[in-house]
Amino acid sequence: MKILLLGGGGREHALAWKIAQSNKCSKLFIAPGNAGTANCGENIDIKADDFESLKKFCVDNNIDIVVVGPEDPLVKGIYDNFKNDERTKDIPVIGPSKAGAVLEGSKDFAKGFMERHNIPTAKYKTFDGTNIEEGLKFLETLKAPYVLKADGLCAGKGVLILPTLEEAKKEFQEMLGGMFGNASAQVVIEEFLSGIECSVFVLTDGKNYKILPEAKDYKRIGEHDTGLNTGGMGSVTPVPFATKEWMKKVDTRIIKPTVEGLAEEGIEYKGFIFFGLINVEGEPMVIEYNCRMGDPETESVMLRLKSDIVDLFDGVAKGDLDKREIEFDERAAVCVMLVSGGYPEEYVKGYPINGINDVDGSIVFHSGTALKDGQIVTNGGRVIAVSSYGKNKEDALQKSFKEAQKIEFKDKYFRRDIGQDL
Ligand code: AMP
Ligand code: GLY
Repeated sequence: MKILLLGGGGREHALAWKIAQSNKCSKLFIAPGNAGTANCGENIDIKADDFESLKKFCVDNNIDIVVVGPEDPLVKGIYDNFKNDERTKDIPVIGPSKAGAVLEGSKDFAKGFMERHNIPTAKYKTFDGTNIEEGLKFLETLKAPYVLKADGLCAGKGVLILPTLEEAKKEFQEMLGGMFGNASAQVVIEEFLSGIECSVFVLTDGKNYKILPEAKDYKRIGEHDTGLNTGGMGSVTPVPFATKEWMKKVDTRIIKPTVEGLAEEGIEYKGFIFFGLINVEGEPMVIEYNCRMGDPETESVMLRLKSDIVDLFDGVAKGDLDKREIEFDERAAVCVMLVSGGYPEEYVKGYPINGINDVDGSIVFHSGTALKDGQIVTNGGRVIAVSSYGKNKEDALQKSFKEAQKIEFKDKYFRRDIGQDL
C-alpha cells in the first residue's frame, strides 16, 4: 500500500516509524514531515491543511490510504473534502469526519455528547455573551479551583484553572470578551476534578474498536508539574493505576458508549479517539476528547504496539477492525522530550543539533527540527523525543535520560522527573 501521512511533529515521526515497519507499506510519504520522518519515507512539501494540493498528490501518486496526524485538518473537514470529491472519494482517510472532529473542536459539543450518552465527566454549563450574569452566578455555586474552557481550538491554551472566585469571574469575562478570539465566544465552566490523568487511545472503524496501550503525559515545563503548560514534556506507558479492572470500567462506561453514541447520532468516525481521562478515587472520568493521537504519548505508545499498524488502518478503512489482531509489547516504554531553552515562552530556533547518531539503545523522534545545509537544527519549542523500552518504567527512563545527554544543542532542557509521580 502507498500511504500518505499528514503532519510534521514528534507524533508523526513515531507514526511514520511504525508504518515504515509494516510489510504492507510499499511507499510512505509524509506531508510536510520533518528531518526525522525523512528517514522513514519521503517528505513532500505540502501543508497538512492544503486539501487541494493533497488531493492532487494522492491522485497523481496512487495513494491507497491517508493517515491524519494533527487535529487541524480534521476539524477543517479533510475527511469530507476527500469523500465529496469524485477523484478521491475512494481513498480512505484515517480520521473522523468534520462532524466527528467536533468532539475535539468544541468543548461544549463534547460535554453535551457525554451528557446525552451518560458518560462520566465533570458537571458543567456553557455561556456566551448573552448570559454573562448567569455564568458569574454559576461560578458562585462551585468550589475552588475553577475551571474555564474556551469552546474552540486554542492550540492547547484554552483551559484556565483559577484558584479564587474573584480571578475566575475576571478571566471568565475576559474570555468572553475575546481573549482567544472567536474560540472563546462560548466558555464552558466546569467542576474541578482531582486525580491523576491518563490518556487512553482507541482506533475505530465506526462500529468496532481496538484499545491501544494507555499512557500518561507530562504537560508542565517544570519538574514536579510546576510552571507553564507545554505541548508535552514526556510520557510513560503502561500507567500503573490503569489495571485490567480500571480499563474495563473505561471500556464499558466510556469507550463503548462513545463509539455507539457517535453511530447513533449519525456521525462518521473512522480514526483515533483520544480519551483524556482522570482517575477520581478509582473511577475514570473524561476530561476531554481529542480526535487524533496524543503528542508526546504517541512517542511511547507506538513502541508498545506490536501489531502491524497498517493492517489496523486497513481494518478501519474496510470496516472489519474486529477481524484484525492487536498485540502489545509487555515492556514499558517512555519518552523524554528535549526542548529549546525559554520554551513555552520565547525561544531561539536554528541551533545546530549534534550527537543524534551517538544515541544507542533509545529511539530518537524528531519533533521540531529542520535540515539546513545538511545540518539538523532546532526548529521548534519541543525539539527531540528520546524514547526507550525497559523492563519497567525506571529502567526505560534511565535509558532515555542517559541517551538524552548525548544529544546536544544550545540551551537544551528536559525534565528529569518524568514518571516519578506514578
Ligand atoms: P483540556 O485541554 O481539556 O485537556 O484541559 C487541559 C488540562 O486542564 C487537562 O489536561 C487537565 O490537567 C486540566 N483540566 C481540564 N479540565 C479539568 C477539570 N474539570 N478538573 C481538573 N483539571 C482539569
Ligand atoms: N498530550 C496531549 C495532547 O496531545 O493533546
